[in-house]
Amino acid sequence: MSIYILGIESSCDDTSASVIKDTKVLSNIIANQEVHREFGGVVPELASRAHQQNIIPVIDKALSAAKINKKQLNAVAFTLGPGLLGSLLVGTSFAKAFSLGLNIPMIEVNHLQAHILSHFIRDNKDKKVPIFPFLCLVVSGGHTQIVLLKDYFEMEIIGRTIDDAAGEAFDKSAKILGLPYPGGPLIDKYAELGNKNAFTFPEPKIPNLDFSFSGLKTSFLYFIRDRLKENPNFIDNNLYDLCASIQKTIVRVLIKKLIKASEKTGIKEIAIAGGVSANSELRNELIKAQKLKNWTIFIPKIEYSTDNAAMIAIAGYYKYLRKEFSNQGVSPFARDIVFNMRKKKIIDKKEIENNK
Ligand code: KG4
Ligand code: ZN
Repeated sequence: MSIYILGIESSCDDTSASVIKDTKVLSNIIANQEVHREFGGVVPELASRAHQQNIIPVIDKALSAAKINKKQLNAVAFTLGPGLLGSLLVGTSFAKAFSLGLNIPMIEVNHLQAHILSHFIRDNKDKKVPIFPFLCLVVSGGHTQIVLLKDYFEMEIIGRTIDDAAGEAFDKSAKILGLPYPGGPLIDKYAELGNKNAFTFPEPKIPNLDFSFSGLKTSFLYFIRDRLKENPNFIDNNLYDLCASIQKTIVRVLIKKLIKASEKTGIKEIAIAGGVSANSELRNELIKAQKLKNWTIFIPKIEYSTDNAAMIAIAGYYKYLRKEFSNQGVSPFARDIVFNMRKKKIIDKKEIENNK
């Protein structure tokens, strides 16, 4: 018998609901919030209010697009964290009420795990999914991590950013160029028209598999500031080349670490996930690395790269199979506690080895 799951995503500024039938997506509705554009970033209080307004219509749309009745649902999965607390509370509270009203289990989902598990959505029968163990580069607005997956929920972070996330590097660079939020997709669009070798920016030198993007952002800022002193039209005259050059630098940093992670672990099954995985330069460079390094790569569909509820529903599906249900007392978390704990474990392992 098929399993129907309703997924709800409300961790940041997109309200999304999706219905899946086993691993197939029947609907995936996303309401973007435009209110943040003029503020140059997400305003948490406005985000929670917009979720409150959007959630019922978005869920209604997801159910009708899936052509199912809510009574057919086997469970409701929702994002517990990480994200903005006020935003998460809207989705979590809705899921609690929905689960109580329909007398179906509710399933909490970690947003980052969901980004990775989006690779297991099978929209068609021939869809190839990663084979464990595989590596996933998770690149979003709040996170940049290389995760080693041994099983659906057995994940180990083997590299992470020590400051800004890759998405922030894109968004902050865009802001320096006077582009509206979120700047990542705009940089991608303008970069297509520019020369990526026009300008060179220093790549961060961070040991192991960790990342850092705050130095790059500062050098980009100083570079632009100095050029504007010489020519007030510098940005306008060079916008496309600037976008292409900064994009190339960010992507180079990501790909180099991914290659290092593959060499270190011996794993050649490589995936990317999260909003920045929609970036065309990253996708192109991954394809180049695949040929060079003999990798098998997994690139999510654009609609499953950026925040969406289908990924929450698929993560919920695998938890449903394990009967991992939540209770009504569950409360959202803003920061990635689960992932931090795993990182601590890795540090502990190193400490043990060092003390031998
Ligand atoms: O995963 P996501 O939708 O939300 C978070 O969980 O943070 O990621 C959003 C991030 C933003 O920083 C946005 O600028 C970036 O993904 N992004 C892109 C592109 N599309 C979205 N960055 C570069 N190129 C893109 N095409
Ligand atoms: Zn995300």
